[in-house]
Amino acid sequence: MSVPPAVGANRLESAPVQPNPPPSTRRGAELRALDWIVALIYERSRIRLSREKEALIRARLGKRMRALGLETLPDYCEYLGSSEGEDEVRQAIDALTTNFTQFLREREHFEFTVGEVLPRLLAGKKKPFGIWSSACATGEEPYTMALYLEEHFPAAAGWDWRIWATDISTRALEKAARGIYPDDRLIELPRDWVRKYFQRGVGGCAGHCRVKPQLQQRNSFQQMNLLDTSHDDGTFEVIFCRNVMIYFDRATQEQVVARLSRALAPGGYLFTGRSEIPELLT
Ligand SMILES: C[S@@+](CC[C@H](N)C(=O)[O-])C[C@H]1O[C@@H](n2cnc3c(N)ncnc32)[C@H](O)[C@@H]1O
Repeated sequence: MSVPPAVGANRLESAPVQPNPPPSTRRGAELRALDWIVALIYERSRIRLSREKEALIRARLGKRMRALGLETLPDYCEYLGSSEGEDEVRQAIDALTTNFTQFLREREHFEFTVGEVLPRLLAGKKKPFGIWSSACATGEEPYTMALYLEEHFPAAAGWDWRIWATDISTRALEKAARGIYPDDRLIELPRDWVRKYFQRGVGGCAGHCRVKPQLQQRNSFQQMNLLDTSHDDGTFEVIFCRNVMIYFDRATQEQVVARLSRALAPGGYLFTGRSEIPELLT
């Protein structure tokens, strides 16, 4: 996808030409740069930002700008729109996504999956089945699902399942794939699950736990934008798309729900966050 043309053209036409423009002009250029970034992020991720979020945008992009030695938002936009800026667009999206998540978050979804959905869908047949965590952030959601599945559908009893975990943020995915968490992130999990499914760090890794390899290997992590239309092949028994729709506008929510519905196996379930768009799903 290219940089939003109308906004990009606007930025280039109105870029200040004098070295020290008066403050009002400088502020105008900053605001145009802000609008341009908001449009770029919307185009690429559908995450809705606005001028009202200026402080948050500046705080999150500030680190990137410092790393690049760029002082102003117009300078940063210039870089984003340049031929070498594509990787920086990915970094900007990474910086502007909110990756908050937790083990056992909205645990009723996992309990319902292993207690009702899967027993009914599989009806005693040990066929391989697939779960998709489609905005998995740093991995707590797919690993929680893996813990529940291993408890109820253990590999040792011949059950074959895979979890596909995707997110737009490569930074969050790197953490997810590593599967290493500070001890205090595991506080909600039952003690015996921590003992069975995690390795305690020692030496330099003290204070951290790592998901055991046999469980980690059943998750595969991949960068994916929810707007992509691949994998619409009806193969997933359960899809999680939780606590991400809140960042989208209504048209995008509808598009994402339609897309994920096509990825579900017949009778499969799509879970959204508790407070997200129930009327879309009926
Ligand atoms: C608040 S976290 C939710 C994590 C987890 N699903 C949960 O409920 O705990 C939202 C995640 O959605 C991801 N996200 C935002 N826009 C996305 C998009 N267009 N495609 C895929 N992931 C996206 C963000 O990177 C972030 O990791």
